[in-house]
Formats: sequence, structure tokens, C-alpha cells
Amino acid sequence: MASVIAARHAHADGREKAHGAFVVIENASGGAVTATRSPTLHHPDTRHPSPVTLHINGADNHLDVEPRVTLLEALRERLGLTGAKKGCDHGQCGACTVLVDDRRVLACLTLAVACEGKPIATIEGLAVDGALHPLQQAFIDHDALQCGFCTPGQIMSALACIAEGHADTDDELREFMSGNICRCAAYPNIVAAIRQAARQMAGGADAAL
Ligand code: FES
Ligand code: FES
Repeated sequence: MASVIAARHAHADGREKAHGAFVVIENASGGAVTATRSPTLHHPDTRHPSPVTLHINGADNHLDVEPRVTLLEALRERLGLTGAKKGCDHGQCGACTVLVDDRRVLACLTLAVACEGKPIATIEGLAVDGALHPLQQAFIDHDALQCGFCTPGQIMSALACIAEGHADTDDELREFMSGNICRCAAYPNIVAAIRQAARQMAGGADAAL
């Protein structure tokens, strides 16, 4: 009869360390006569770094990351792209918002390895040749920030919000930007800034209003 156990070896200090699952072949009286590692039960070490290519703001970035590393950690700690902020690290504040496949995602809840080969857009990629994106300029024009900690996430979220067609009214905008928290409560100015940028990006006659 075969059974599965987790083989354990005692350390010198008495702690036990599991060494993975083994299949144990028992004799008729129940005594183990041989043991072999089960190939179907062997799990890869999830702490082992894997090569991944992240396509960020139009450029490929090659790095080795453990499967548990979040996109936010990869951006900030590995690639020096610190625009996306770590606010709550629990998916509740929106400060880490970036775009993956043109959809806004919370980078603190997204694994870097899951973004392999997908286009990623961060706040660092918005300005072109030193010219601010209309959203960046509108946030300045409307004084839509105080401490600025939430601002990169607000702008990236707003970019997707406009592309989704959810910037037609203030109420709609507030609803679809509700995942981005501003502790400084600059909400009226943020809404005004996004509305201005939306008009500009659409090429409307009142773009400058
Ligand atoms: S840091 Fe990701 S949602 Fe707050
Ligand atoms: S500007 Fe300070 S948190 Fe939004």
C-alpha cells in the first residue's frame, strides 16, 4: 500500500524542516520499506526568480523576479519608476494605479510575472519630449493636488476613465474615479481638471475652458 507523507528532518536545535512530499511504500504489516519523492507532488520553489520582460512606456525591461513580486514592487524597487505610489498596498487607495493593456490596474495587487508581454503605461511615460500630457497640465491649471501623493494614480486612472467614455458628466466622473482616494480632499479640483483634459483630448471647441 502506498501513502503520502511529508518527510521531516530534525535540526540540531530541535526544529523540524519539511523536505517535500514522498510516496512511502508500506509492507503488509504497515511498516515503511521504501520511500521515493513523488514527481507529481513536487512543487517548484516559488522563491526562485524567473526571467520576465515588462514592456513599459514603449520599452522592454528584462529582469528576474520571484513569482510573488508585485508589479508595484518591480516598478519602484527594481526599475526605479517611483511615480506609482505605495499607499495602502491593499488595493484600497488607488495610488498605485497604472495601465496594463490600456486598462487601469492596481499595481500593488498585480503580479509582475502576470504582465509579461503586455503593454504597461505609467505616469513616467505621459509627457512627450518635455511637453506635459493634457491631464498633467490640467491638474496644474486647476490646482488639483496638495501633497501630490495620489496624483500619479489619479492621472493614470483619469486617462483610462476618459478613454472608457466615463468623463461626460461630473457625477459620472466621480463614480468612475471613486477608487482613487485623495487624503487632501482635492476632489472638486480633480474633477475640474479631468473635465478640462477630456475636452482638450476630444478637441472640443471649449477645450481651453
Ligand atoms: S497602494 Fe495599491 S491600492 Fe493602495
Ligand atoms: S493631493 Fe494629497 S492625497 Fe491627493
